Amino acid sequence: MSLIALGVTGGIGAYKAVEVARGLQQRGHEVVAIMTRGAQNFVGPVTFEAITRRPVITDQWAAGMNSSVEHVALAGSIGLLLVVPATAHTIAKLALGLADDFLSSLALATTAPLMVAPAMNTHMLEHPAVQQNLQILAARGAHIVEPGAGYLACGWVGKGRLAEPDDIVEAAHRLLTPPRSLAGRRVVVSAGPTYEDLDPVRYIGNRSSGKMGIAIAAEAARRGAVVTLVLGPTSTEPPAELDIVRVRSAADMHAAVLGASETADVVVMAAAVADYTPASVEGEKIKKGDADLSLRLVRTPDILRELGARRGEAAWPVLVGFAAETSDVVARAREKLAAKRVDLIVANDVARRDIGFEADANEVTFVTAEGDEPLPLAAKTSVAASLWDRVERLMASRPLPAAAS
Ligand code: C5P
Repeated sequence: MSLIALGVTGGIGAYKAVEVARGLQQRGHEVVAIMTRGAQNFVGPVTFEAITRRPVITDQWAAGMNSSVEHVALAGSIGLLLVVPATAHTIAKLALGLADDFLSSLALATTAPLMVAPAMNTHMLEHPAVQQNLQILAARGAHIVEPGAGYLACGWVGKGRLAEPDDIVEAAHRLLTPPRSLAGRRVVVSAGPTYEDLDPVRYIGNRSSGKMGIAIAAEAARRGAVVTLVLGPTSTEPPAELDIVRVRSAADMHAAVLGASETADVVVMAAAVADYTPASVEGEKIKKGDADLSLRLVRTPDILRELGARRGEAAWPVLVGFAAETSDVVARAREKLAAKRVDLIVANDVARRDIGFEADANEVTFVTAEGDEPLPLAAKTSVAASLWDRVERLMASRPLPAAAS
């Protein structure tokens, strides 16, 4: 179990953070509360002290706080920094990297994950400044516990209410102690671009960073699966505990994925596989001439379609693909779901710079036979967790695979 730093900021929801502290303790976690000056207008530190049975940090400059550079000392020992409620002001400070009090200094000093539960008036929440700051945090990998809608303390009815304390506790607990829901399952994930060589020095590639697929593979491993990650050329470093097969071209990826998938329970094709490859690779560097140059490109095999055809009427493996599109994203995803005979397509708008290729955040829609499920903008790690939640539901609805029955 972990030590959780609970940052409490100055919103009316501050009193609900007491319940969050209790819930985390009931799940076996230790909690150290950090209150901003604003928070102390709503709840007294003694309340948190009594609940957490630890001194509450209220001031960067209190006597004793700097003999051991407390925010740095604490930074190294926490498993999570959880901010409940997160006001617009604190969200802005975290997005900008300001460090004018203990909580904001700790946020910079720690490498533990950050989870924020925003709470504010509806118009404040919808303000582009707040939305942009939340996007900045999500893009950096922060986990956002979405506020709910309902009656707000300011008298308004709308979105902005602090998420239910139980849901915040659950989100934090799951982040720290992943479910072993994929234990014993074999998973193949492809990620990254492919490079199609033209000659010894040039290739045709694409902008995929592999981050989404790597996050999916890492999340499956966290949940106990045996994971093979077939990874195209990318500088993004995958976690060392995965079984990684490095490939370069679409042909390499085709061979690696089909081979690894023979015994798989789930295959997720997150790679941006080239659809065309040069008809031949020149042995020597292509010489520059005065005339224009035409290249003849031929189709690559569609790996996902082959997996769908190979499965036929069988229930396994569960097959997941991506549809990276720049227009009509969901409609095209639905076409792919049928054409490739797969179970789930993750529709991904790659025309937007803040999501998709190279970004750390993504905003996707899950397209299945049951309908479309749009997800809010979230860190790729959060999208990966939602994807496995959805895939696990698909897995639960089919008969056990032969090997496991
Ligand atoms: O048909 P399209 O390329 O748009 O479909 C995208 C999905 O198909 C992705 O999941 C991608 O990994 C997969 N794909 C594949 N083999 C290819 C091209 C794409 O498996 N040659």
